[in-house]
Amino acid sequence: MEKQGKRSNRLVLVPGSFRGHLNPMLQLGTILYSQGFSIIRPLLREYTSFNFASQCQCKAPFQECLARLTEKQNSDEEKISCIIYDELVYFSEAVATEMKLPSIILRIGGITAFMSRDAIVPQAEGNNFLQVSNSTSNYRSWIKRGSARILSPQVKGSTFFEIRVITQVVKELRNTRKSSAIIYNTIDFLEQSSLARTLQQFHLPLFSIGPLHKFAPALSSILFDEDISCMRWLDEQTNDNTIIYVSLGSITQIYENELAEMACGLANSNQPFLWVVRPGSVRGSEWIESLPEGFEEAVGQRGCIVKWAPQKQVLAHAKVGGFWSHCGWNSTMESISEGVPIICRPNSGDQRVNGRYISNVRRVGLEMENELNRREVERAVRRLMVDKEGLEIG
Ligand code: UDX
Repeated sequence: MEKQGKRSNRLVLVPGSFRGHLNPMLQLGTILYSQGFSIIRPLLREYTSFNFASQCQCKAPFQECLARLTEKQNSDEEKISCIIYDELVYFSEAVATEMKLPSIILRIGGITAFMSRDAIVPQAEGNNFLQVSNSTSNYRSWIKRGSARILSPQVKGSTFFEIRVITQVVKELRNTRKSSAIIYNTIDFLEQSSLARTLQQFHLPLFSIGPLHKFAPALSSILFDEDISCMRWLDEQTNDNTIIYVSLGSITQIYENELAEMACGLANSNQPFLWVVRPGSVRGSEWIESLPEGFEEAVGQRGCIVKWAPQKQVLAHAKVGGFWSHCGWNSTMESISEGVPIICRPNSGDQRVNGRYISNVRRVGLEMENELNRREVERAVRRLMVDKEGLEIG
C-alpha cells in the first residue's frame, strides 16, 4: 500500500548500469517510495561500464549533482538522508563521506557468490589458486573452489598482471569502507549457511531482503522492448510444464556456432521451446541470421523465438517446465521463486558459483558443463524435461 501525503527523507539511489544491476535497484526504489521516501536517481552518463577509469570520471559529476541538490534544500523534508549505491559504483561511498552523508551498499548477487569472490584475494596473495581440496563437505573449501570457478578461464591462461587487476577490483569491492550497512537481494532460506557466516564476518548491519522482484511490482522494460506475443504463444500450448524457456540474460554473448548447436540440440530434443535471442548477443550477427537451415521447421512446429521476453511472467506461466539459464542471480531467483528447475549453463563470474550452488547444493537444477554441442543440449533438455531426474529436481 503506497503512502500518501508529503514525502520526507530523500534517498539517492545509484544503480549499476547493466540490466541485472539496474532492476533490483529500481525495485528497491519502488518499495522505498511506497513507504513514503522520496527518491532521486542521478543519471551518470559516463558510467556505462565497470572499470577504474569510469569510476574516476563519474565521481566529480556525481558530487556536483549532489552539491546542487543540497544547495536547493530549503527544509528538513528536502534533506538527503542517505545514498544507496550498487557496490560496483563504489565511488559513491567516497562522495557520501566527503559530503558527510550516510551510505548503504546494495549487493545484487547471491551471498555465496560474494563469499567466493572475496576469497579470491587471500588466495591470489598466497598464490594457491586451484590447490583446493575436492571435498564438498567442507564449506570453506566449497567457497575456495567457488573462487577458482569465478576465475577459471582467467587463471588458466592468465598473466600475473591480469590476476593482479582482478584482485585489485575484488579488493575494492570487498572494502565496505565507511558504509553504514549492506543490503543483499537474496532469499534467506536459499543461502542460510552463507548468510550466517557473512553475519559473523561483517561488523556492520546486514539486511537480506530479497527476492526484490516479488515485493516490487513488475517494471516495464527499460533497456529492451518486451515481446509479449510469446505469452499468447504459451497460452496456446497444450500441456502444462512442457516448455523449456531459454534465455542468457542481458550481457552474455555467444558465437555463431554455439547458436547453431543450441538450435540443433533444441530441435533434436523434440521439446517445445521459447527462446530469447537478444539482438547483438551472437557475435558477428545482428540477430538470428546464422541459425542453421531447416531450423524454421522446428520453430514452426514447436518453438517461439523472441528478442526479449517478459521473463517473470514467462516463468510464472503454467506451460513452462524448465529454464535454460546463464545463472545470473536475478534469473536464478526468479526461477526458484516460481519452482521452475534450471539447466545451468553459466558464462562468467558469479554465474559459475550460482550454477554449482543451484545444482549441487540446492538441487533445483542440473549443470551443462561440457562443450556446447547439439548432443549435450539434447541430453540436458531431455534430462530436465522428460526423464525422471527432471521430475525429481522440480
Ligand atoms: C548481471 C550479471 O551478468 C550476472 O552475473 C549477475 O548475477 C547479475 O547482473 P544479467 O546477465 O543480465 O546480470 O542476468 P540476470 O541477473 O539474470 O538479470 C537479467 C534480468 O533481465 C532478469 O531480471 C530477467 O527477468 C530480465 N530478462 C531477461 C527479461 O526481462 N527478459 C528477457 O528476455 C531476459
